[in-house]
Amino acid sequence: MDRHPTEYSDYGDRIADIYDEWYESVNPAAIDALAELAGPGPALELGIGTGRVALPLLERGVMVRGVDASEKMLARLQAKPGGYRIPVTVGDFADVPVDGQYPLIYVVFNTFFALLTQDEQVRCFQNVAQHLTDDGVFLLETFMPDMTRFQRGQNISLVAMDDGYLRIDVTQHDPVRQHIYSQHVAWTESGARFYPVRLRYAWPSELDLMARLAGLRLAERWGDWDKRPFTAESKKLISLYRK
Ligand SMILES: C[S@@+](CC[C@H](N)C(=O)[O-])C[C@H]1O[C@@H](n2cnc3c(N)ncnc32)[C@H](O)[C@@H]1O
Repeated sequence: MDRHPTEYSDYGDRIADIYDEWYESVNPAAIDALAELAGPGPALELGIGTGRVALPLLERGVMVRGVDASEKMLARLQAKPGGYRIPVTVGDFADVPVDGQYPLIYVVFNTFFALLTQDEQVRCFQNVAQHLTDDGVFLLETFMPDMTRFQRGQNISLVAMDDGYLRIDVTQHDPVRQHIYSQHVAWTESGARFYPVRLRYAWPSELDLMARLAGLRLAERWGDWDKRPFTAESKKLISLYRK
C-alpha cells in the first residue's frame, strides 16, 4: 500500500507536545540490554521519536543515530541536552534510509507495528538486513496480541482521571487486516484532544517468517527486558534476529 509521507508523520506530529509527559519512563534494563548489544555502536533506532531511549543510550557511551517521519518529534529530540549529538534522518523507516552498517538496529515500544501492511513490514526486515554488520542484531520490542481485550471488536479503557481531567483509550480491532485503530482522548474543561494511532500487529510466528524472507533468523526471544523467557503468559516479546 502506498501511503503519503504525511501519514507516517501524522501520529508523531500530533502527539509530539505531550509525548514525553505521557511516556516519560524508560526501563533501565532496556538501556542495559541495548548497550550490551550495541558495544561502542553505532546503533540505529527506527522511529527514534523524542529520543526517550536513544539519549540514555548515548549517555552510556553508545553512538546512536535515528530515523523518524515526524519532524516535530525530532525537534523535541534535538532540543534536549545531547540531542544535537544524534544524527537523524527524516523518512520512512521501512526504507531504512541511512548509509552504513550497524551492529545493532532496534525498534522499540511497538513502533514496528506502525507499518500498516505485511508488505511494508517485510520491506523493513529486508532493508534492515542490508544495514546489519555480519554479526549484527535486529531487535524488535512488540506487544503480544491479546484478543481477550476486545468485545465485539471494541475496547474502551480509562487511562487517568481527576476532577478536571479524563484520559481514555478507544480501540477498534480488525482481525482481517490485523489492525488496531485507537483514539487516545484527553479531556479537560476546555475541550477534548484526539491522538489517533493505527497499528498492524503480527504474531511472533509471522515476525519470524518475515525475518526468514529477509535472510535473518531468530537468535533469542525474551518476555521482558530482564531477559526472562518468552512464554504464553508474556505480555510483550523482545525478538533478536541475526544473519
Ligand atoms: C511510539 S513512538 C516511539 C518513539 C521512541 N522509539 C520511543 O520509544 O519513545 C513512534 C515513533 O515512530 C515514528 N514513526 C511511525 N511510523 C513511522 C515510519 N513509517 N517511518 C518513520 N517513523 C515512523 C513516529 O513519528 C514516532 O516518533
